[in-house]
Amino acid sequence: MSGHGTPIPMTSRRAGPLSGVAEVPGDKSISHRSLILGAMAIGETHISGLLEGEDVLDTAKAMRAFGAEVTDHGNGEWTVVGVGVGGFAEPDQVIDCGNSGTGVRLIMGAAATQPISVTYTGDASLNKRPMARVTDPLALFGTTTLGRSGGRLPMTLKGSSDPVPVRYEVPVPSAQVKSAVLLAGLNVPGKTVVIEKEATRDHSERMLAGFGAEITVEDTEEGRVITLTGQPELKPQVIAVPRDPSSAAFPVCAALVTPGSDVLVPGIGLNPTRAGLFATLRDMGADLTYENEREEGGEPVADLRAKFSPNMQGIEVPPERAASMIDEYPILSVVASYAKGTTMMAGVKELRVKESDRIDAMARGLRANGITVDEGDDWWSVEGLGPDGVPGGATCESFLDHRIAMSFLILGMGAQKPVSIDDGSPIATSFPIFERLMADLGAQLIRANI
Ligand code: S3P
Repeated sequence: MSGHGTPIPMTSRRAGPLSGVAEVPGDKSISHRSLILGAMAIGETHISGLLEGEDVLDTAKAMRAFGAEVTDHGNGEWTVVGVGVGGFAEPDQVIDCGNSGTGVRLIMGAAATQPISVTYTGDASLNKRPMARVTDPLALFGTTTLGRSGGRLPMTLKGSSDPVPVRYEVPVPSAQVKSAVLLAGLNVPGKTVVIEKEATRDHSERMLAGFGAEITVEDTEEGRVITLTGQPELKPQVIAVPRDPSSAAFPVCAALVTPGSDVLVPGIGLNPTRAGLFATLRDMGADLTYENEREEGGEPVADLRAKFSPNMQGIEVPPERAASMIDEYPILSVVASYAKGTTMMAGVKELRVKESDRIDAMARGLRANGITVDEGDDWWSVEGLGPDGVPGGATCESFLDHRIAMSFLILGMGAQKPVSIDDGSPIATSFPIFERLMADLGAQLIRANI
């Protein structure tokens, strides 16, 4: 688990062009869901391409604690023998989800309508994050919660033996909250309805349907109305996890800001609820093309080719695109530093409650490296200095946040002076091969501070 070991100081400096093929790992959101839904099915689910980052490994451990048989066959091949909807055993240990908000919130949902008591905890970052957004709707099913003040972990959830279905309008754009309610609805007789005003990533809906649940999605004036019929028998699946667009963002953006680069990132899922960053980069004038566009497992997929892009312009990122690129604003702010003019990012309040306050974390580090950043509660802007203009030269705090750590390392790849981070250990939560992959492309990363 990150944040519990020795910090790993790291530095990146301007190197020659980045080139080659970057095979990024499996999608984190789909990996968590594959294990959880596999554990709720009857029979053996086969998963290939599972992301073997710490976040997902913590979810695998949790599923074992609930009684599922989870086996690692090597090379991203896993099997899960599920216990069925409603079949979770009460764990005899605390469920430690490490750094993962997705892990803990989805698992809380899955276990919340079973008559068991479960205690959850996480690392220093996760134990600061708000859980009431999940425990409030779970209470409507009859689940009781006792946690720390402010609705923080560690906390215990006790499922009702007689849960009732709910109709819930999600008050914040959050796929985790939506998914927690849907997973809870699985073990409840009758129809559970979730309404979201803004569409968020729809992997839960797609995968629930794939596992055989009765689920419908309607676009109405109220928003997206998702209706799930409870107590299905979920059927085991064969799942090939697509590569993670949120991880692809790092080699793509590194190529855009490093002079002379040409990098191919193959097989990236371009589900419209996830692909907002790539549309935004193209709007900024990035030389980013989709090659070999195809469909795999019902999802649009393409090979991304990214080349050094010295003529990018700052833009106003459409706020309605926020949910489809919510994890990508840190790395977008790095690209914005190398564009000309201002990039304005509004409607992004959710960034303040991620693994860190991502607006604050990026603003501090960018300013230390010579970039002007302005911010409000739910917006921020970055003044680009052009392809040669980023001074660099400072050490940034990564605040136990993988995406902050990787973003600042990419900042160093085009800067005049090297850029350091205090701790790269959180990178292992989502992108355990980041260092090797970037080094293979030609990046200069070292494990030391400047
Ligand atoms: C995720 C949803 C998003 C995202 C996270 C993964 C998911 O969180 O930031 O990395 O897999 O459902 P929110 O639901 O809090 O926006």
